[in-house]
Amino acid sequence: MKIGVFDSGIGGLTVLHEVLKVLPAEDYLFYADTQHVPYGEKPKDEVRQYIFDAVDYLAAQHIKALVIACNTATSIAVNDLRQRYDFPILGIEPAVKPAVQNSMIKHKKVLVLATTLTLREEKFQNLVRSIDTADIVESLALPGLVQLAEKRQFAEAEVQSYLQQALAGLDLNQYGTIVLGCTHFPYFREHLHHFFPEEVDIIDGGEGTARNLYRILQQRSQIGEGTGQISYVESGQIIHDPERLNNYDQLLLRLSASSIL
Ligand code: SIN
Repeated sequence: MKIGVFDSGIGGLTVLHEVLKVLPAEDYLFYADTQHVPYGEKPKDEVRQYIFDAVDYLAAQHIKALVIACNTATSIAVNDLRQRYDFPILGIEPAVKPAVQNSMIKHKKVLVLATTLTLREEKFQNLVRSIDTADIVESLALPGLVQLAEKRQFAEAEVQSYLQQALAGLDLNQYGTIVLGCTHFPYFREHLHHFFPEEVDIIDGGEGTARNLYRILQQRSQIGEGTGQISYVESGQIIHDPERLNNYDQLLLRLSASSIL
């Protein structure tokens, strides 16, 4: 049986990339809701419907576990999804706890970057309330980075100019840790590093989600059931076109290349 990995778009590959490191001998069904991306700036009820449609599709393929590789989808639907399906469902949420611990040591603040929907959700607000007793967590929505990723615009100049504008007005020296609270953002880790002091740590939840998936499959004795094959689905359509498949391969390669820099 395959593992389903779901996102609004190509952000989910940043999580799949982490999952592949710990679970290389599995088969994966990667679902990108390319017809409806971006989720993060749309009305919540509309996005919930897209998520349920996508997960219904994946459930019909008899997946053995699902990774919701999308912070926005996790924020607004993970609890309801867990009630609806009987396979394990893992979400991803902003890594606020390790970020606060890290920044406290440095006597600095935390900046959480995510989509508007994620930051507005009660799940995020509650998370911050329960952890941020020293009141050091700030947040900023960066919807433009989702759009740049979806258009495969990773060129230095375009990204820098968007970030320059989006980060203007913040005192960037006050942060010790930046949390990437959207799975599209790890593509821009290096671009972000240019704006913050050298000692800033930029963290995301991909690795933790991959570890949790490994642990759950191990508990269920379901590890190593595949051959490392990845199939891709875009909004309910299985992809066979070699050019589009190559596009996904290239993005995974880009992530591998940036993680060894
Ligand atoms: C989006 O579709 O707007 C981004 C999804 C995410 O939060 O990871």
